Amino acid sequence: MTNVSASTAAAEYSTAQKWLHWLHAALILTLIPVGIIMSNSDPSPTVNAMYELHKSFGMTVFVLAVIRVAYRVARGAPAYADELPAVQRMAANAVHHLLYALIVVTPILGFVGTSMCCKPVNLFWTVPVPFGFDGSEATTKLVFTLHKTAAITMAVLVIGHIGAALFHGFVRRDGILRRMLPG
Ligand code: HEM
Ligand code: HEM
Repeated sequence: MTNVSASTAAAEYSTAQKWLHWLHAALILTLIPVGIIMSNSDPSPTVNAMYELHKSFGMTVFVLAVIRVAYRVARGAPAYADELPAVQRMAANAVHHLLYALIVVTPILGFVGTSMCCKPVNLFWTVPVPFGFDGSEATTKLVFTLHKTAAITMAVLVIGHIGAALFHGFVRRDGILRRMLPG
């Protein structure tokens, strides 16, 4: 993959990068608990609506993720200050790469599994996605297990990511949190 390390030149995160980041954060932090609740609930009109919203906002995350990765590759990100220890720089780069991969792969797995069991997959109850995949019951189950694994991995990384952001913002006060804030 093209270099998406934080050393790629850019004076600061652009407004679009910041808004895409916070939009993704809001969507993903909602999709994960909704996914867990709906999968562990008995069918009802409310649970059906949760499924529909989870799938539709999940596909929205995928479209935004493709735009975000392309934009990131084209534009880069601001370099870290020299004082930031190399090990923290490497950890941040590794987590950011993994998060970028997971915001693309997790919705793909959700879509593939859903289209195998129940196509067409509709966007917000209306527009049917005009393609899908076929798979046996066992394959569908495997794809959903991978979807769950990817989502849980993302949740764990995001917890570490939030912890690091708050540490930089309120303990080290080194401007790393501020550079992702709007304005
Ligand atoms: C669930 C969702 C989240 C995802 C998928 C996510 C993903 C990412 C990624 C991929 C980057 C790297 C940006 C780049 O260099 O191109 C990033 C940066 C950042 N994120 Fe998140 N993030 C999430 C939630 C949060 C939350 C809730 C916070 C704050 C509490 C936060 C704070 C930050 C900060 C401060 C940066 C800038 C770090 C730096 O400049 O190196 N993120 N995030
Ligand atoms: C970043 C986007 C997404 C995240 C973070 C996410 C997260 C999750 C989580 C945490 C679960 C619960 C897994 C479990 O406890 O078994 C789940 C289940 C599910 N997701 Fe997603 N999801 C995303 C996108 C999608 C998309 C795009 C679709 C379909 C178009 C989808 C369809 C489903 C379905 C059908 C289930 C229930 C699976 C089952 O009953 O075994 N998800 N998702």
